[in-house]
Amino acid sequence: MAWTSTSLLRVCTFLLLLILFLPREMMSSVLTVNGKTEDFTLDTQPGALESLECAVQNHIEAEELLWYRNEGRVDLQAGNKINSSSVCVSSITESDDGVSFTCRLQRNQTVSISVVLNVTFAPLLSGNDFQTVEENSDVNLVCNVKSNPQAQMMWYKEDSIINLEKDHHRVQQTSESLQLSISKVKKSDNGTYRCVATSPLKMETKDFHLVVKDKTTRVPIEPIIAACVVVFLTLCFGVIARRNKILKLFLKEKDSQKETAL
Ligand SMILES: *[C@@H]1O[C@H](CO)[C@@H](O)[C@H](O)[C@H]1NC(C)=O
Ligand SMILES: *[C@@H]1O[C@H](CO)[C@@H](O)[C@H](O)[C@H]1NC(C)=O
Ligand SMILES: *[C@@H]1O[C@H](CO)[C@@H](O)[C@H](O)[C@H]1NC(C)=O
Ligand SMILES: *[C@@H]1O[C@H](CO)[C@@H](O)[C@H](O)[C@H]1NC(C)=O
Repeated sequence: MAWTSTSLLRVCTFLLLLILFLPREMMSSVLTVNGKTEDFTLDTQPGALESLECAVQNHIEAEELLWYRNEGRVDLQAGNKINSSSVCVSSITESDDGVSFTCRLQRNQTVSISVVLNVTFAPLLSGNDFQTVEENSDVNLVCNVKSNPQAQMMWYKEDSIINLEKDHHRVQQTSESLQLSISKVKKSDNGTYRCVATSPLKMETKDFHLVVKDKTTRVPIEPIIAACVVVFLTLCFGVIARRNKILKLFLKEKDSQKETAL
């Protein structure tokens, strides 16, 4: 008797749950992108062309779809919105790495599927590759890197690993650059530095030329200007002080000129 009542209870609970949840499940539209029902990452390469097709499942009525590229709406043609919609990403570039494409149900925008592009490419290096500095000044060699997957970075000088001297060299690395700071540059720091990036796809290098000039002895321009100003002012004051004398002299001369004219 006890067994029958428990199983009866179980059957009842099951039926109740079925009645409660089945209609809602059946009514809620589900999206797929390229046949997948959840967010996913799409591995691709520069220059490739990818097409993403979004479709509604479980729908009773016509459903409008929206596409977003990151946060921005993608303009869709009239015949490419109802029940299914495709976007084509042509000539993919390195800068498309990490960009997401999201398909949403217009009626309920919480229903969505996102695809994140994983654009893999060999290291791209850039930077100011020719610098001239005066002896004893500070300099930064900055090797900018873009790479997916991330590259291992290293500095070399004339084909050998740099023997880093404390208080002279400093190396800083971020996901976007490898930087070598040299403080109080010496003549021996002159030369070609090589930035080397190693990724599973490829090894790339870029040379940075550093030319160390002699320290030019600067002419002290400020004291010279100051001295000139002092001399000029002294002359001016002198002239003002003797103004009367000079004026009298001038008048006298004029008078004597008059006399000769008469
Ligand atoms: C979209 O789907 C609904 C329900 O299945 C259907 O009635 C409608 O004709 C479809 N519309 C288009 C344009 O495919
Ligand atoms: C939108 O869809 C979500 C997930 O299916 C659901 O939980 C939510 O109740 C829906 N909102 C509306 C307003 O229909
Ligand atoms: C991107 O693709 C590369 C190569 O297939 C893989 O090593 C890496 O883990 C992927 N990155 C992500 C975020 O999926
Ligand atoms: C300094 O380095 C530059 C760049 O590598 C090189 O062209 C030049 O010959 C070097 N000068 C001296 C004196 O070593």
